[in-house]
Formats: sequence, C-alpha cells, structure tokens
Amino acid sequence: MKKLWGGRFSETADESLDNFWNSIAFDNRLARQDIRGSMAHAAMLAKQGIIPQADADAIRAGLEGILKDVEDGSIEFALTDEDIHMNVERILHERIGASAAGKLHTARSRNDQVATDMHLFVRDEACKETIALLHGLQTALREKAAEYANVIMPGYTHLQRAQPVLFGHHLLVYVWMLQRDIGRLMDCYKRANLSPLGAGAIAGTTFPIDREATAQELGFSGIYPNSMDAVSDRDFVIETLFCNALIAGHLSRFCEEVILWMSNEFGFVGLSDKYCTGSSMMPQKKNADLAELVRGKTGRVYGALFAMLTVLKGVPLTYNKDFQEDKEGLFDSVDTVQKSVFHLTGMVKGMVVKPDVTRKAASAGFLNATDVADYLAKRSVPFREAHEVTGKLVAYCLKNGKELDQLTLEELRGFHASFENDVYADMDLDNVVNRRNSAGGTALPQVQKQLEQAGAALSETAAWLAAH
Ligand code: ARG
Repeated sequence: MKKLWGGRFSETADESLDNFWNSIAFDNRLARQDIRGSMAHAAMLAKQGIIPQADADAIRAGLEGILKDVEDGSIEFALTDEDIHMNVERILHERIGASAAGKLHTARSRNDQVATDMHLFVRDEACKETIALLHGLQTALREKAAEYANVIMPGYTHLQRAQPVLFGHHLLVYVWMLQRDIGRLMDCYKRANLSPLGAGAIAGTTFPIDREATAQELGFSGIYPNSMDAVSDRDFVIETLFCNALIAGHLSRFCEEVILWMSNEFGFVGLSDKYCTGSSMMPQKKNADLAELVRGKTGRVYGALFAMLTVLKGVPLTYNKDFQEDKEGLFDSVDTVQKSVFHLTGMVKGMVVKPDVTRKAASAGFLNATDVADYLAKRSVPFREAHEVTGKLVAYCLKNGKELDQLTLEELRGFHASFENDVYADMDLDNVVNRRNSAGGTALPQVQKQLEQAGAALSETAAWLAAH
C-alpha cells in the first residue's frame, strides 16, 4: 500500500518486513495522546493564520469522532499503516477529505509528534497513575500497622533474631519506602512535563508557530529550549523505568517477607485464600502465589530498564528509529508495576497477624542480650566489657538450654558482680520494646508518632494528586 510519505518511493517493503518494523500493534495505546496532540497543533496552526480556521474546525471534528470510536473500541487500525500517527492521519483523511486533513501535518514531524505522545503518556498514565496506586497500597499498609501497632515480633538482622520490634514499626518501613518512590515519580513527572511539540523533525520550522500555546493547551509547564534535544531525549522514559524498577524491587522485598511469614517455619501471618493457590498434587498446600509472582515480575521490570539504557547509549543525535523500541518495555513495565501494586493492596488488606506466634518467637533467641549489656554499661562497666560478659552468658545459656531471663541472680553474678534483681525488669520482653523510646525507635509512643507522620505524608500525596 502507498505510504503517506511515499512520494519518492517506487518500491514498497514486503509484508513480513512491514510486520517487523511497524509499531501499530503496540503504539495504538497512544491513540488518545496522539489525538490530543493533533487537536492542540491544529488549533494553534489556525490561530497563527497558518491554515484556515474552517480546516482546523473540520480537523477537530474529525479527530473528536476518531477519539470517540477509540473510546468505545469500534476503531480498526490498519497494520499496514505503520504506526499510530499514520493510522490516525489516514482515518482522518478518509473521514474529512484530503484537503483539510492534509494540512494537519503542516509544521510538524512524527519526531516531535511521537515525543509529545510519549511525554503525555509518561506524565499522566505512568507517573500520576502509579502514584495514585502506591498511595492506595501505603494506606492499606498504614492501616495494618495501626491495627497491629503493639504486637511484638522478632526484628532481624542477617535474618537472625536481633531485637524485638513492634509489628507496626516493621510495616511502616514499607510506607516510607513507597513514599520515596512517590517522591521520585513526582520528580520524574516534573521533567516529563515539558513540550517537545513544534520542534519539527530536528531544527524547528519556517512557519510562525506558537510552541507555548500548544504546550499550555496540553498542560505542559513549558517547552524544550532546544529542538534537537526535544526530539532526541528519551531520558524521561528511562527515569520512569528506573522508578518502576526500584518500586518492583521494594515490592519484591515485601513479598519475600510475606512468603517467609506465611511459611510454617515462621507462621506469623495468614493470608486470605483469595491471594493464594493450592497444589495440584499436595492437598495440604496453600501457597502465597501472588506474592511469589510479584517477586518474580521484578525480572521483566528490571529488564525493561536495561533494554532502554542500552537502546539509547550509542544513538547519535537526533531521532533514530531505534527509539521505537522504547514503547513495549515502557508499557509492560507500567502495566506490571501498576497491577502488582493494585493486587498487593488487596492482599495487605486481608492479611491477619498472629500476635501469640510473633510474641513467642521474640521471647526465645536472646533478643534481650543487648539490654543485659546496656544494664552493665549503665552501671559503669565499659560497654566492650559488658558485651563480652553478656556474650559469655549467652554461651552459658546455650550450653544449659536456658534463656537469659531464666538464669538465677547467682548465676548472673557469677559472670559479673554488678547484676542486681532489677536486671530482670530490663530483660522483660515488653520493657525491652518500650524502653527503646528514642526518636524513630520501636517503643509504642514512637510508632504512634510515626503513624501520624505517615498520615501526614499520605495527605500530602492526596493533595498533589488533586492538584495535578
Ligand atoms: N513509530 C515511530 C516511533 O515510535 C514514530 C516516529 C517515526 N518517525 C520517523 N521519522 N520515522 O518512534
């Protein structure tokens, strides 16, 4: 089929090559952005006296009709029409005639057109939508943290029991992690919110266009100062892929913990059946499938980032067809992360914590050893010596099958003369937790303060979402 750019061509690619280099199969996803961009461009052309107002009106009406058909799914894009830009233009030609439709591409190239579409997609559907979903997951995590704020569990370093912490304290870590992800996406939004439209193919245009007007119409905060940069920049895509990669990594850490917690070995939490599956052979199984799958999907999200970093690295200025490779990875990364966040939100809402199990786990394994060392240090024993004495006490306990708080005062004094009866209060599990009342510590008042701080962070995000 003859192409819209086919003036100088006498031969056309065969079907299999067409199928290889055409992008309509995936960039049809940019239909809305493409139409919006064309509407803004056509209106500006008329306002600047570059095309007649009547043609701009016909173009607008035609594009509105196409948009409506896109919305209700009745549009059919032709595989032979290369990409979304050519498809929309050809359909417009068919609907309003070549005389008006043929003027739409005045003072424009597909290079600034595709860049505009991608900026709109990244800004609205990648950054903003992901922020809204993360906000939902944070809300669910914070609610669980509040519900189980004073449940004691073992805290781990090196996956060895370290010191007891409150479950709320542990869950809030993920709220803060996701808050940093939101901050990164807001920052990415800012940089993506710049209009490349009007850059033309590379060097601008001889027509008296108004780039600020189209930028404003499309809600951009300004325009790229350099037309060559405008058509060759794909940093904003890579930034989005990086934000998503880090989110996927964070989700994966959380999923790993949930999988461990749900295992018989830990038994800390129960998950709703809705988010688990059974085994086709072993009738007793209940597997945390969603958490496993989200952990596994990290691979493709990281992959998309590395693919695009590699695509961009050796590409000379300005636009090159290589850039068409930015789309599938971006769409997949955005879909994967958004669906993961959405389903994990449901899983968190249905998660049940087992306080007796977590408490029991925190009661064994010398999680109060630091407190014994601190006890001595507060009685003028140098901390290094206190550490050594307590280490010996732990070794003694291991040999005799006891916990530190099961030792008699006599046994304790055999290791250091400074031990008195009040050491038992310092070893008590609840005290071990609630005496850690330093800022950001695990004592309940600190966790309650954190819950408030997290609530304030959530409100800030809600305000940002309302304003953007
Ligand atoms: N499908 C192309 C892409 O995604 C659109 C831009 C094509 N521009 C060009 N000069 N061939 O990058």
